[in-house]
Amino acid sequence: MMTTIILDFQKYFIFIFLCFFSLLCYTLFFRKPKDFPLPPSPPSLPIIGHLHIFLSVPIHRSFHKLSSKYGSVLYLRIFNCPIVLVSSASVAYEIFRAHDVNISSRGFPPTEASLFAGSFSFISAPNGDYWKFMKKVIVTNLLGPQALKRSQSVRADELDRFYNNLFEKAVKKETVEIFEEAMKLTNDSICKLIMGRCCPEEKGVVERVKGLVTELDVLSKTVLLENLLPSWVQKLVLSLFKKKMEVLSNSFNELLEKTLVEHERKQGKHHHGKDLMDVLLAACGDENAAYKITRNHIKSFCVDLLFAGTTTPAIPIEWILAEIIKSPKTLERLRGELDSVVGTKRLIQETDLPNLPYLQAVVKEGLRLHPPEPIFERFSQEGFKVGGFYVPEKTSLMVNAYAVMRDPNYWVDPDEFKPERFLEEEERKEQALKYIAFGSGRRGCPGENLSHIFIGTAIGVMVQGFEWRFKEEKVNMEETIVGLSLTMAHPLKLTPIARTPNPLILNLKSRGL
Ligand code: HEM
Repeated sequence: MMTTIILDFQKYFIFIFLCFFSLLCYTLFFRKPKDFPLPPSPPSLPIIGHLHIFLSVPIHRSFHKLSSKYGSVLYLRIFNCPIVLVSSASVAYEIFRAHDVNISSRGFPPTEASLFAGSFSFISAPNGDYWKFMKKVIVTNLLGPQALKRSQSVRADELDRFYNNLFEKAVKKETVEIFEEAMKLTNDSICKLIMGRCCPEEKGVVERVKGLVTELDVLSKTVLLENLLPSWVQKLVLSLFKKKMEVLSNSFNELLEKTLVEHERKQGKHHHGKDLMDVLLAACGDENAAYKITRNHIKSFCVDLLFAGTTTPAIPIEWILAEIIKSPKTLERLRGELDSVVGTKRLIQETDLPNLPYLQAVVKEGLRLHPPEPIFERFSQEGFKVGGFYVPEKTSLMVNAYAVMRDPNYWVDPDEFKPERFLEEEERKEQALKYIAFGSGRRGCPGENLSHIFIGTAIGVMVQGFEWRFKEEKVNMEETIVGLSLTMAHPLKLTPIARTPNPLILNLKSRGL
């Protein structure tokens, strides 16, 4: 009897031991990330879920509030479509370091026939052959360091024009709307860089592009929202703004087709260097190209670049000047640096930028506090684990760059304008992980270097060449969102007073560009 009990006990013990062992093995080696919980979800409304939050203005602040209350990774939904919102520097770092390939698409193009965000778009293209081909084209011919070196003289001319406009206003004692002037600088420069050879003849092209890009900015939020909706609601929303999108797309199409024809007509004739359109046309006709692009690809690519590269770098120029005017200490230090490095006899040029560390720090700090694209979107191909939670496959991922760059766990005095924070070498290295004004990873912004040139030289010119007067008691820093961009709610209007009686530009002609 006793022996039977001992044998039974041994059997039970072995059985229980095997159960524990299997569970341990399963937990350690076979447990799928799916077993992690979904991120927490704030209260939602019946049927529409969290749609009302996406419609609130300004959306980055609503998201920021939500994450402060419920956590840095949140699970939201619009109807039945899942969206994961990321709002902290540590989670953003984990995602871009460990899952970059998995999240290197932006979801599906919503408006098939449109030149913007349609099926030929680079920005919304999946991470495949087309995207890789165009990325190489853009880096080699427009935005990479060598390409930027080759196009220096184009930007130098536009910077002269920018300075001259301000100088004329100073002479006439006129008020300047800073964003308007900045937008003229970036828009004219981008147009010349993309389709340069045809811009001087085609008077009015750059002005038309500016108008179309402004309209596109306003429509962009609808496009993003539509992308997040279930297909039956997408169709409904599309029917509401389809006409507007079509008109806009057709206007771009007409303008770009004319410019392409002009390029083809002038091919082989005397011209000074190739612009991006020449390169794209050559690729279009190249039977052996790594990817066979069409005319629609070229036009859509140009729309993407005009959309991404015109308003976005113009917005921070206004914000940063506002911050400088609010802070006399910053203005004094910046002017001191410019006067000692550039001097008072010639105007700053882009080759001075590497020697102006404080100016660079001011630009970065301005972009940290006021990222023109406060939220950007990615899409998970496969499910993955982040911050202890599970993000399912085919889920939209929204990164709140505004919240990440004001994360109090990673930034000292996160809401203060302190350019000095970017000067210390150690700090700078560490911040590379939490500074995401230009996104991160393979789908990060390819226009970062060009943007630093635009913003650095524009701010340099405005501080070096002018004193600025304003009528109000103090600068109003209230924010608003236009389309998807974070802009000043009250446009900055200032009167320039030239710091020298003669334009600095006259001394520039010796620069030999
Ligand atoms: C201050 C100026 C700018 C800011 C703050 C900015 C910011 C961004 C951000 C946040 C993204 C998404 C990145 C991601 O998903 O990780 C992006 C993408 C992009 N930007 Fe910029 N951008 C600026 C200027 C420019 C300029 C001047 C150009 C080109 C002329 C440009 C072209 C693009 C393109 C083509 C993409 C899509 C890249 C892809 O999907 O592979 N951007 N930008």
